Order: sequence, then C-alpha cells, then structure tokens
Amino acid sequence: MVRNVAGEMAELEPEDFHLLSGLEHGMRFSRWVAEGKLPEFAGLDPEDVDYRLDRCERRGLVERKTIQYTGYRLTFEGYDALALHTFAERDTIDGVGGPLGVGKESDVYEVRSFQPLALKYHREGYTNFREVDKERDYTSDNQHISWFYTARKAAEREYEALETLYPDVQVPRPVDQNRHAIVMAKMDGVELSRAGLTDQQVVPVLDLVLEEMTGAYREGFVHADMSEYNVFVGTGGVTVFDWPQAVPTDHENAVELLARDIENLVGYFRRKYPRQTPEIDEAVLADAVRADEFETVRAFD
Ligand SMILES: Nc1ncnc2c1ncn2[C@@H]1O[C@H](COP(=O)(O)OP(=O)(O)OP(=O)(O)O)[C@@H](O)[C@H]1O
Ligand SMILES: [Mg+2]
Repeated sequence: MVRNVAGEMAELEPEDFHLLSGLEHGMRFSRWVAEGKLPEFAGLDPEDVDYRLDRCERRGLVERKTIQYTGYRLTFEGYDALALHTFAERDTIDGVGGPLGVGKESDVYEVRSFQPLALKYHREGYTNFREVDKERDYTSDNQHISWFYTARKAAEREYEALETLYPDVQVPRPVDQNRHAIVMAKMDGVELSRAGLTDQQVVPVLDLVLEEMTGAYREGFVHADMSEYNVFVGTGGVTVFDWPQAVPTDHENAVELLARDIENLVGYFRRKYPRQTPEIDEAVLADAVRADEFETVRAFD
C-alpha cells in the first residue's frame, strides 16, 4: 500500500517541490534521472539539489539507484505529494483526513474543504510496475513511463466521465483533477453490497440504478465495471461511482459491455434478494436502456 503523505506536506518547502517536479520532468525521458541533470530540471543549484534529494529520500518521496551512474526517480508517494501540492495551491483542498476506501487500483481519502470531499489517487499500473521492476535491467528504459502514465490516464478518463455525466446522472460531483488524482464530492450512504434493503426497497433501488445506467447511456457512456461495490445507497437515492474504465457508447464493445453491466447488477439482486427480484428478460431490458425507454423492471417481468 502507498503511504499517506498528507501528514508530511507541511514540512516540505517550495524548493522540495521544485526538485520533485524536476524529477517528474526527467522521468519523461528516462526511468532513472541522472543526478547531474537535476539542477537544470529543478532550477536549483547542485548543492541545493543534494540537500533536497536527501530530504525527499528520507521521506520516501524519491528513490535512488546506483548502476552506472546515480539516478533518482519519484515514488508513488512523491507523485501523490505533487498532486496534493497542486490541489492545495489551487485551494481545492484544505487538508486530508482519514481513508474512505482502499481498492486494488486506488486509495481514497476524505478531504477537508468548505464541504466534505473525497480524494482518489489512481494506482493503475502500480502492481504491474513493481513486478516488471524486479526483472528489469535498469538501463533499458523503453517502459519507464508506464505507472505514471497509466495512473494519470485513468484519472483523466474518470474525471472526464464525471464531468460529462454530472448532474444528469447521479455520480459524485467532480471538483478537480491533477496528475493521477481526482477530487470529488464525498458520497453519503453505504455500498450497495453492504446495504440491507427491506422487501419494499429492492425493486425501487434496482430501478434507480438502472435509471442511472440509462441516463449514462444517453449521455454517451457505459460504466463497464458495474457491481454492488460501485454503487452507493443513501437517503438521497443511489450514486454510481468508479468510472475510469467507462467506454463511450460508440465503442465497438459498448453494447456487449452494457449487457454485462446489466447482468452483473441484476445477478447481484437475484442472488441477494431472490424473492423480491422479479424474473427479468435481461436482453429486452438492455434494449430498453439503450433506447432510453427504461422505466421499471416490473415491465420486464
Ligand atoms: N466520492 C466518494 N465518497 C465516499 N467514498 C468514496 C468515494 N469514492 C470512493 N469511495 C470509497 O472508496 C472505495 C474505492 O473507490 P473506487 O471504487 O472508486 O475505487 P477502486 O479502485 O475501484 O476500488 P476497487 O478496486 O476496490 O473497486 C469505494 O468502494 C468507496 O467505499
Ligand atoms: Mg470500485
């Protein structure tokens, strides 16, 4: 797991961030950035670079490797620190609170602001990056960019989906995005997987989620990772979140992915609430969602 760097932000000085962004810049060209390149990339004199590298290495924000030359690179913590710094400078957030969720591919924290927000750091590529790294000869640089790039792209894709869908579809309100991180409204409620629905709530909640899927399709997206873990149920209704893998409706697999999303969702209701979930013709239901004609699952019974 990637450590929460929020507690150390106050100790970092502006020049430390110059060093980190200099390193980020250098990592566009090579996996490890030669120490000698850093004064230029960071805009600091060589003694200051040494001093900053030491501070940042002690805090786990950079890693050093000596092969033919001494090279440095950012860690995920260092990348997190850069994103946090940007959010703080833009006044997006005032501080980071406790964890809201830890996924395979993300870390989500509560953030303080004028209202409760959530900060999601994307980690796509991270596991991959660790594995690849063990076997890799450090001088071959052809894939050096992968974890940065993969995680940043995922954050950009998720943010773009949220911006398109909000507020027509019940998704977390997007607030800001930088590098591999997004800031959004904090959702109320609990994951559908942990919501104990009463007999009377089952069909209405299933209807609400299908309505949101219909709305998303209308706005041009299929979620493509629909499950009881990516829906929140609260007093205000349902919220569908976790959109980095969403595909546009004109994608060649969109129809197939929508059908799978519907199977996953209805399948969950059928397993967890067998008596309350009507027998549904899922293929007809999927057609109705695509045609923007969905009203209630009762009609597909
Ligand atoms: N806006 C939010 N408000 C409150 N909690 C959130 C928010 N976004 C995410 N979470 C919490 O963080 C968890 C992980 O978020 P998300 O599903 O977006 O990431 P993920 O990488 O897909 O995780 P996983 O791999 O486990 O599905 C969620 O299950 C939820 O509990
Ligand atoms: Mg998820």
